[in-house]
This record gives sequence, structure tokens and C-alpha cells, in this order.
Amino acid sequence: MLNGIGNIAYLGASTLFILSLRGLSHPVSARRGNLYGMLGMLVAIAATLLIAPGVSLAVVLVCAAAGATLGALLAKRVEMTQMPQLVAVLHCFVGLAAVVTAVNSYLAPLAGLAGAARVIHECEIYLGALIGMVTFTGSIVAFLKLQGTLGGKPLILPGRHALNLGIVAVALALGYRFLTAPSADAGLFALLTMIVFAGALGVHLVMAIGGADMPVVVSMLNSYSGWAAAATGFMLDNDLLITTGALVGSSGAILSYIMCRAMNRSFISVILGGFGTTSAASSTQAAGEVVAATVDEVGALLRDASDVIIVPGYGMAVAQAQSTISEITRKLTSMGVKVRFGIHPVAGRLPGHMNVLLAEAKVPYDIVLEMDEINDDFAHADVVLVIGANDIVNPGALEDPTSPIAGMPVLEVWKARTVVVSKRSMASGYAGVDNPLFYKDNTRMLFGDAKASVDALLQALAA
Ligand code: TAP
Repeated sequence: MLNGIGNIAYLGASTLFILSLRGLSHPVSARRGNLYGMLGMLVAIAATLLIAPGVSLAVVLVCAAAGATLGALLAKRVEMTQMPQLVAVLHCFVGLAAVVTAVNSYLAPLAGLAGAARVIHECEIYLGALIGMVTFTGSIVAFLKLQGTLGGKPLILPGRHALNLGIVAVALALGYRFLTAPSADAGLFALLTMIVFAGALGVHLVMAIGGADMPVVVSMLNSYSGWAAAATGFMLDNDLLITTGALVGSSGAILSYIMCRAMNRSFISVILGGFGTTSAASSTQAAGEVVAATVDEVGALLRDASDVIIVPGYGMAVAQAQSTISEITRKLTSMGVKVRFGIHPVAGRLPGHMNVLLAEAKVPYDIVLEMDEINDDFAHADVVLVIGANDIVNPGALEDPTSPIAGMPVLEVWKARTVVVSKRSMASGYAGVDNPLFYKDNTRMLFGDAKASVDALLQALAA
């Protein structure tokens, strides 16, 4: 009876998770998607407690309360710009949980399992521990790199691919030993030895990847954590964990693919690493004169314009300038100016970063356009306002085949009549490359913190 109710609840939770993913695919439905996800998780936890045999409810509730408090505190404190780090930390917990569950499953008496069923169960344990450990240590390194504790420069050891293959070969050999071990102790020894090697593999794989590729790595680790959870689901014979793990695993893989396409990188080249040294510079030095503009000059340009496109980037998120930009949009619209936003798929530091900030600031969705929808329109724009963006508007990506970001599709803002770039200095962006846009004849640099600049601009427009 309880099992029946539990299975129906699991089905309901799986459906809610699918609805959640669907809702998260568009800003309009994202809030609803989040609610579905939270509800699904609540149903899943309640159903698991209901059907799990011999669970001490008090212990689970105390642990859940501690975890929930910690999670709520972290989520409240963390800035949008630190979200990739938070996601990396969360993946590391999933990986660790898979490893601990795997070891625990091996230590628990395998009552009633013999022959092929036992081998399959042991394969699930081994795979769960392997993927879980790579996810655990890989996520820690990704966190340290994103946090800036470890440098963004890739660690390129001589013969690194051979080293990775060597570790995989050792893991396979230990797997054979694990499955054919004469005693439980020998099996445990093989499992624990593999876990040490898998940990080293996770560290080495992510250390070899440069800072610029870290977002793809985080989304790839997201996918790994899903597969680790699915393996744990098989181990524990828990259908909901298998479904949820597969959803996370496949959505993470799809997201990694979309991000790679937006950066014009192949997934394999990202995983093999080596790109994205923070000191990288394009071989052709950007040259020309930099022309600075005052807030009043930019105000006059905007007043005279009839078609304005705003391109936000990471600097807008750092400066938290989105609310003032939303007010400027309303002001310009009331003056009869057509205002739209151009969003690059990897603007900021996480997928959808700019869309979330603009939605928060109540910018209408219908004027926020994706790169493919707006790229042809820059040629007809009077003014393009680039707010704290750099790599995503770098013409070098299209014009300089030696640039580290060569081939990455970018917003072709330089085709507009005038481009105004709001940033604090001539510093490079995330990929560490020079930007020839700043030296073009039709570019004006509005130096200063983006929030201070747009606040002053709003005042100038109101005057
Ligand atoms: P970036 O290329 O990182 O450029 C941001 C610019 O903002 C910097 O050049 C900086 O110049 C400026 N800035 C920083 N703080 C500012 C402030 N308070 N006020 C005004 N300007 C400020 O950003 P982007 O153009 O958005 O490109 C994103 C980059 O991140 C790409 O390389 C992308 O591949 C990578 N990436 C993307 C993602 C995803 S999925 N979105 C995740 C991780 C990495 P100053 O220092 O001179 O002010």
C-alpha cells in the first residue's frame, strides 16, 4: 500500500521536474518552472521518507533542517555574479554523495543478490563512485578557479592526454579486480584505490582547462553529477533518482553543447583543455585613437537618435546598473525613440544571466532580442549602448584569425552609426584579449563605473 502511494508520488515528482525544465526555458515561465521544481523536490523527499525501510525520521529531519538552513543562507548571500561558483559547490556535494553511497552500498550486506544481479549491482557501485569522484574533485577545482583562488591559466603537463588515458586504464583494471575479488576486503581495497585515482583524474582534467572555458566545464560537471545520481539510483533501486539523474545529465550535456556552439568551440576541444590563458592577447595589436565621451555628449546622441540598441555584458551585472538602464529605456521610449536589447548567448557569466537581470529590472521581454534576431539590425541603428560588455562585441573574433576567440559569433555593434562603450578602463574582458572596437572611428568610450555612468545619463536625459 505504502509502496503504491510512494510510486505514484514518484511519478508525480518526475512530471513536476519535467515541467520545471520546460518552464525554465523561457523568462516568462521561469518563475513557474522554479515552483514546479521546488514542489517536485518536496513530493520526492516526502515519498522517499514514506517508503524507505528502517529510516530514523528524527535523524533525517535534523539533517534536512541543517541542510535547508545552510542552503537558504547561501542562496540569500550569494551574488548573481557568483552563481557559477555556487553551482560548482553544489555539484561537488552531488559527486561526494554518490561516492559515499557507493561505498556504503558495497559495505552493506548484499542479501539476496547473486550471479548476474550481483555483478550488475557491483558495476553500478563502481560507476557511481567513479563518476561521483571525478565530479567531486573536478567541481572543487572549478570552484577555486572561478573564485580566483587558483589562476585561470590551464595547467599543461607533458603527456597529459597519455596521463588521462593511463588513469582510465588503471580504473578499468581495478574495476576487473573489484568484480572478481576473492574477498570483500580485496574488493573494498580495489574500490578505494580507484576512488583515489578518479579524484586525481578530476583534478587533472579541470586544471588543464583555461578560465574562459570554465562555464562550459561547470555545465559539463552538472551533466556528470546527473549521471552520478542516475548510477546511485540504479544502486539503490530508486526510480525517481534514475529519472532525475538522467534529466540533469542530459540537460547539462545539451547546455554544454549550446554554450560551445555560442563560443564556436568544439566540445572535445574544451574538454581536452589548453584554451583561455588569462594573459592571452590577439597577435594583431589593436591600434588607433581612443575617443572618450562625456555623459552630456552621450545624452545628446541618444536624444537625436530614433533607433537605439543596448548591449549589456558582465560589467552591467557587476555594477548592478540594470534598474537605471530600464528607466533610461522607459525615458527614451516616451521620447519616441525605438529601444531594443541585444543579448549574446554567453554574455555575463552564466547562461541567461542578462535575461534574468533585465527581467528583474522589469524590461519588457518583447524588446529583449537574441543575437541571431538582432545582428542584422545594428547596421540601421543610430546608437548602440554597450554596457560593461567586451568579448561579446569584439570584432577581432571575426576579423583576426589569430585571435584566441576567432570564430566566436559576436554582436556586430560596430556597424551602427555610433557605438558608446561604458566601462571603467581599457582593460580586457574574460578571454583576456584586446578589443579593436574601442579604437574604431565611430566608437566613443564612456569611462567609469556603469552604474554611476547610467545614473548620470538618466539625469542628463531628464534635464
Ligand atoms: P567580458 O568580456 O568579461 O567584459 C566585461 C567588461 O565589463 C570588462 O572588460 C570590464 O572592463 C567591464 N566592467 C567590469 N566591471 C564594470 C563596472 N563596474 N562598470 C563598468 N564596466 C565594468 O564580458 P562579456 O562581454 O559579457 O562577455 C562574457 C565573457 O565571459 C565571454 O568571454 C564568455 O565566453 C565568458 N563567459 C560566459 C559565460 C556565460 S555562459 N555567459 C560564463 C563564463 C564566461 P573594465 O574593467 O575596464 O571596467
